[in-house]
Amino acid sequence: MNASPQTAISIQSLTSLEHLERCVDLQREVWSYSDNDIVPRRVFIVAHRIGGQVLGAFDGQSLIGFAMSLPGYREGKSYLHSYMLAVLQQYQNLGIGRRLKLAQRDDAITRGFDLMEWTFDPLEIRNSHLNINRLGAIVRRYQADFYGPSSSPLQGGLPTDRLYAEWWLRSSHVADLLRGEPQPQEILERITVPHTIYQWKQDAQQRSLARALQGNNRTALESAFQRGLAVVGYERDTQGNGTFLMGPWKNSSEV
Ligand SMILES: CC(C)(COP(=O)(O)OP(=O)(O)OC[C@H]1O[C@@H](n2cnc3c(N)ncnc32)[C@H](O)[C@@H]1OP(=O)(O)O)[C@@H](O)C(=O)NCCC(=O)NCCS
Repeated sequence: MNASPQTAISIQSLTSLEHLERCVDLQREVWSYSDNDIVPRRVFIVAHRIGGQVLGAFDGQSLIGFAMSLPGYREGKSYLHSYMLAVLQQYQNLGIGRRLKLAQRDDAITRGFDLMEWTFDPLEIRNSHLNINRLGAIVRRYQADFYGPSSSPLQGGLPTDRLYAEWWLRSSHVADLLRGEPQPQEILERITVPHTIYQWKQDAQQRSLARALQGNNRTALESAFQRGLAVVGYERDTQGNGTFLMGPWKNSSEV
């Protein structure tokens, strides 16, 4: 372990073949993907050339994390879809993932984007906390088995269900939260993920519990979204359980 304080980490746009190749290696190290699921260097080159983003986090000369996004288009508007965010395990929980996202936001705003989206696994408590509490993403769409089967052990053989994070880059919701002054939200429903989920996914004997929870939470989240609710907050308790806080999303113009 040679993790440095996060202040020693620099964030830079990646353009060299060597750095883009390192992003490919980082996928293997972070997700343990098989070759079939690895995004090749050529896609990083395309992302960089067509108006997406490839940003890296460096400890000295070592690339220890990256964020990659692609330009998207829906209902007459351009946005960025952030496809991958990865930080080497020994550098996780030092705020580097958050810094990569904030660098993506700065670059996106500079280039005129209002919206960045990405998908995340609703069973991942850490990612949910980062996306909703630390970045200010809101969620109102669910996609069951988004990618089909995944070779990553982190997925535990479960369907690749994903929530869509919407990050309204210039909204007061995001700006207030990033200033440390989140706006109060009306909470009407709560949907919990127990901290034992990680153990359930990794243990073949307990995987049926993870599968059942995924199914129940899928039903609850889809039902809430159909009734016009959004994920507007996230709560972690002292045991490490995570809870989606569902409420009305007031900024209805942000669709
Ligand atoms: C997701 C990932 C990119 C985050 O990067 P990171 O540098 O660790 O993120 P940060 O340190 O900025 O934020 C992590 C937050 O989760 C918190 N956290 C850590 N473990 C947690 C847990 N078990 N439950 C809840 N929160 C947890 C951290 O304390 C931190 O929150 P804080 O800033 O309020 O203290 C990184 O963990 C990773 O590469 N994971 C594997 C790949 C992945 O899942 N990528 C995202 C989907 S593409």
